[in-house]
Formats: sequence, C-alpha cells, structure tokens
Amino acid sequence: MPAIILVGAQWGDEGKGKITDLLAAQVDVVARYGGGDNAGHTVVVRGERFALHLVPSGVLHPGTECILGSGMVINPSRLVQELDGLAARGVDVSRVRVSSAAHLIMPWHIALDAAQEAARGGSKIGTTGRGIGPAYADKAARMGIRVGDMLDDDHLAAIIRARAEEKRPFFRAYGLDEPGVEAIVLQYQEYAARLRPHIADTVRLVHQRLAEGKTILCEGAQGTLLDLDHGTYPFVTSSSPVAGGALTGLGIGPGQVSRVIGVAKAYATRVGMGPFPTELTDDTGEQLVVIGGEYGTTTGRRRRAGWLDLVALRYAIRVNGITELALTKLDVLGAFPEIRVCVAYRCKGERLTDFPTEARTLALCEPEYDTLPGWQSEISHVRSRQALPPAARAYVAYLEHRLGVPIRIISVGPERDETIVEARG
Ligand code: IMP
Repeated sequence: MPAIILVGAQWGDEGKGKITDLLAAQVDVVARYGGGDNAGHTVVVRGERFALHLVPSGVLHPGTECILGSGMVINPSRLVQELDGLAARGVDVSRVRVSSAAHLIMPWHIALDAAQEAARGGSKIGTTGRGIGPAYADKAARMGIRVGDMLDDDHLAAIIRARAEEKRPFFRAYGLDEPGVEAIVLQYQEYAARLRPHIADTVRLVHQRLAEGKTILCEGAQGTLLDLDHGTYPFVTSSSPVAGGALTGLGIGPGQVSRVIGVAKAYATRVGMGPFPTELTDDTGEQLVVIGGEYGTTTGRRRRAGWLDLVALRYAIRVNGITELALTKLDVLGAFPEIRVCVAYRCKGERLTDFPTEARTLALCEPEYDTLPGWQSEISHVRSRQALPPAARAYVAYLEHRLGVPIRIISVGPERDETIVEARG
C-alpha cells in the first residue's frame, strides 16, 4: 500500500509534469499536495495542447483517480475552466476529487498579491500574481475560506461577506477599490454548484485506496528551494513543496511512503527573484534558455538559467529524503563542448559545501566548478543508459557518485517515450 512522493529538487520547473505523466500509467491515484495555479504544465490531448495548473496530468490516463489535497489553495474559476476544458475534449473528469479542507483563492487575494508586490519596490519576490501568498497567509491566520464552505450556499454567502469585511482595512492600506461583495457571492455560488460533485473527504479516500493495496503518486508542485521553510526565504512560495508537505497536504504518515523521487533538471533554472549562484548571464545562459525552451507555462516569463548546482541538490536530497532521482532535459546539454557542475561555494573567503540557510549569504556565494567533457550530439532517440554517448553516460555516473543516490529516470526529450527508465534493483 505504498505512496510515492514526487518532489521538485530545484526551483520548480524541473519537468515534474512529464515524470508524473510517465508514472501515472503505473499508479492508481495521482494526488497534488500543495500550491495552486501558480504551477503549470502543458499536456497534449488528442493533438491539442492544454495548459493545466491545478488538475494533475494523471487525469489523462483513463481510470487514474486525481486528488487535489488539503494543502492546496484553489482558484475555483481556474478549476472550473480546467474541468470544462478537459470534459470538452472527452476526458472523464468525474475522477477528480477536491479536498474540502483545501483553501479557496478569493479575488481579493489576487488584488493583494499585486499590491504587495508593487509595494515591495526594488525587493520584489516576482510572484506569479495568482494570490497564492495572501491565500496561505489567511489560512495561517485562520481567516480563510475552505472548499468545504462551498457545500452550503447560505453558509458560503455569510462567510464571504464576513471575510470581505475583515479585508477592508487592507484594501484601504493599499489604496485598492473595495470588492463588490454581492457579485463575488453570486459568482462563488455558481462555482460551488459546478464543483460540489468533486468535493470530498480526500483523507478518507486516500486511506481507503491505500487499504485496497493501491498506489498513490503524491505530485509536488514548485520545488524544494521555493519551500516556505527550507527554500531561499523570502524568495519562496507560501506552501511546502518538500516531501514533508505531502504528508500534511494529503493526511498520510511517513510509514506509508515507499519512495521519494526527486526531479532535477540536468542544469538549473529559476523564475522570479532571489539568489541563484550558478546563474549564467552570458551566451551560454542564453543558449540554455533557447535550447531548453525555458519560458514559464503559467506566466510565460523567461527563466533564468545556469549550470547544475550540486550543493543545492545535495541539500534537496537531505530535506526531502530523496531515494532516487529523475534527471530531465539531459538532451539540452548536448549543445555544449564542456559542461560545468557546481561542487562548492566560495563565500567571504570560506569554502562552503553545505547550502546556506540565509538567502543573503547565498547571494554572496560564488560557484566552484568541476568541468566535464560534453558529448555534442543529439540523444533524444536513446532509450537505454548503455546507448548514451560515453561522455553523457559519464556525466550521469558522476552525478550519482557525487550525490549518493541512483538516477533511475533520464528524460532525453519532451515526448513521453523520450525517456530512459532503469529497472529498480
Ligand atoms: P508565488 O508562488 O506566486 O507566490 O511566487 C513565489 C515565487 O515562487 C516566485 O519566485 C515564483 O516565480 C515562484 N514560483 C511559484 N510557482 C512556481 C512554479 O510552478 N515554477 C517555478 N517557480 C514558481
């Protein structure tokens, strides 16, 4: 009765969507445990590209149940749009269940996200603007509205009115227009009518499935270095993308987890602000962006790019208890005559091999690199590790040796079958 946790080991955008899609064929349930529509992945349904932000890509596998867990913040407008879009393409969305304990993103969260970013002036976080931070802040302050509040229209109206009243001082403080509350009530009652069949006690559901011997894939969003506790605070998101977040975000215990798969790109990217020691602002960085197609699914923003950072990756392995890695976009490195890997930082005259806890220290770190030979060839057709060019094979073996965990999945292209999967020993 195992649960498998799939977690982003960098700053998000590691290619978790593709790995989820790959593993979804072997599991019974795919459950997201945190974040909201700040995440995003593109899927192709019958030749049509479709951007999903809330519904796990497992929905495309007939029979796979999909859960949106209690650790999530849900924009109901977006969820309705995704469910309707999928249904219009013939996908059975009756298998999508939303936790009644997940929190709702309200229009004022989105307005406040923008206003708070503007007020930060030169020290912006670079949020996705989806209201994520303000929604989690209300959850922690016990001022949130939960998905379960949508089960009763009168109760929903009353709680929206009460919460809107509490928000008035914030609107005044940021010079924002006060929201038309009755319009919001009507709109959210409409969403409630549409979403009610999907609202469930997902903790009970998850434990039922585990008791039936089914396998649950806990799908992380964002990445370890964006974690509220363990990331580069304050340049983080407001949820817990780490493996621990899967336990609280779905209501399972550590003993039920059999594997923790960390997903890491063969290089590094970051979107939004905050320290990024291996960032390349030269032609090589530009090449990584162009060849890797490094533009966000959610905001379309150009990602910052640089070499793989093993100091950060070792830290991610620690805080998540990663048992194996999936390495994505290895094909992108085929363009480079040599490949660099950060093995330590130089900071204020010291050599650091542990990831600093303070973002301001990280901002002062200079990477110390190992340089490996590139393979300068196309590898998207390769389906086994043995068939990789020797330099690519050596790169993967080098990473395993340095990190102390096996790399069991290697992605060599965007398509589902452009993947090397190692049998588990
Ligand atoms: P928020 O989650 O919108 O509050 O944004 C906080 C930070 O997390 C910003 O730097 C965002 O760019 C980043 N972020 C949020 N979601 C993702 C994601 O799915 N991929 C990569 N970065 C993300």
